[in-house]
Amino acid sequence: MTSSTWDGEPASAAADANSPAWAVRAAAGRRLAVAAETPEAADVLHRLLLDERDTGVVQATAEALLARRDVAGLRVVLKALSRAEEFEVADQLAAEVHCDPRRLSGEPGAEEFVQQLRALATDTDEGVREEARRLLPRLPTTVKEIRLDNVSYTYPGKESPALDQVSMTLRAGQTVAFVGVNGSGKSTASRVLAGLYDVSDGAIRWDGVDVTAMNSESLQSRVAMALQDPVHFPFSALANITVSRGTLTEADPHRALAAVRASGAETVIAALRDRWSAVLSKRFKDGEELSEGQWAKVAVARGLYKDALVLLLDQPTASMDPRAEHAVYQAVLRGNRCGDQITVLISHRLASVVECDTIHVFERGRIIESGSHQDLMELGGEYAEMFTLQATGYASATAPGTGPA
Ligand SMILES: Nc1ncnc2c1ncn2[C@@H]1O[C@H](COP(=O)(O)OP(=O)(O)OP(=O)(O)O)[C@@H](O)[C@H]1O
Ligand SMILES: [Mg+2]
Repeated sequence: MTSSTWDGEPASAAADANSPAWAVRAAAGRRLAVAAETPEAADVLHRLLLDERDTGVVQATAEALLARRDVAGLRVVLKALSRAEEFEVADQLAAEVHCDPRRLSGEPGAEEFVQQLRALATDTDEGVREEARRLLPRLPTTVKEIRLDNVSYTYPGKESPALDQVSMTLRAGQTVAFVGVNGSGKSTASRVLAGLYDVSDGAIRWDGVDVTAMNSESLQSRVAMALQDPVHFPFSALANITVSRGTLTEADPHRALAAVRASGAETVIAALRDRWSAVLSKRFKDGEELSEGQWAKVAVARGLYKDALVLLLDQPTASMDPRAEHAVYQAVLRGNRCGDQITVLISHRLASVVECDTIHVFERGRIIESGSHQDLMELGGEYAEMFTLQATGYASATAPGTGPA
């Protein structure tokens, strides 16, 4: 097996199994393999595939498990592959087992595992579709405008759409906010933008080119996401940040430093005994665990480090203290990021999005209001009501006697 077919990196960079990029992923995979049967490791594997689309580490985990003849661990990997519909990785794993069936023979549960693996690997409809997409042209390396035209998305098994005829234009260099009550469709919109879901209806165009006519991996490589519930990679602090960018051979210490400064993760790393090389998992000897707010800072740094054309921040600051959240938003809104980046902020704390160029208000899968903070306050609609409610809450808390009785 070669790494080039698995990890989604350009063949030239990934083909060398001795490259530092591959070595870091292999080490991470070996660590994950040790803990593969625990719920935490299963969760990391799922999210590596679903949120980060990092098949390289999952491949390395599978390899380590195969070498240990650990069928139970391999079943956890298989479940993650199945959930993320990663047919190509399943196919590679099946080929590996097929080439040398003795590798697992005699292990309890091996036969059933191999059958399930083959069933996933030969899931032709999706497999063929993915393969076809891989052959499509790659997206350009710059973008001036991303347009959503009447985009709808319905989750499998659901009757009503989570996104219903949403249209918007995102322009290079702009900061855009999605706000709205729980379940209104903000995260779904960001996932559709990131290419994690195919739209059910309508179109997304990058400079006029429909993304369905483009290679989906290239789309994902042009978008960075930081989520409220980030993946906790059991890697070193450095790898936790640089893993967001395909090849670790190109890991850039200056950019990593800039990213941790902007996200507030610099002080988190400075407090670790082994600093950048500290392994962030208590499961490992000398490993260290972070708090949720500290993980959030690392996750934001990972998103900033990627320096992608689009940066999506889906409430990554929810577990941060107010000072830390303020610092992150200032860094994102005012920092000297690449000037053409499109930034999408999702937050329930409206004070954080006041300075955004455009704010879209979501309600039941639709956009009901759009404009700058000023526009929306003048409009006197849903946004103005939500903003006033929050502002009044703060005012009454800080000035006793001046708020409502
Ligand atoms: N994975 C999923 N499977 C099925 N339905 C989903 C899934 N994720 C979200 N939904 C549904 O889609 C709708 C929109 O959800 P979404 O997560 O986009 O809301 P949101 O605006 O991000 O909410 P929040 O503020 O709570 O994060 C909701 O009705 C939700 O129940
Ligand atoms: Mg959400």
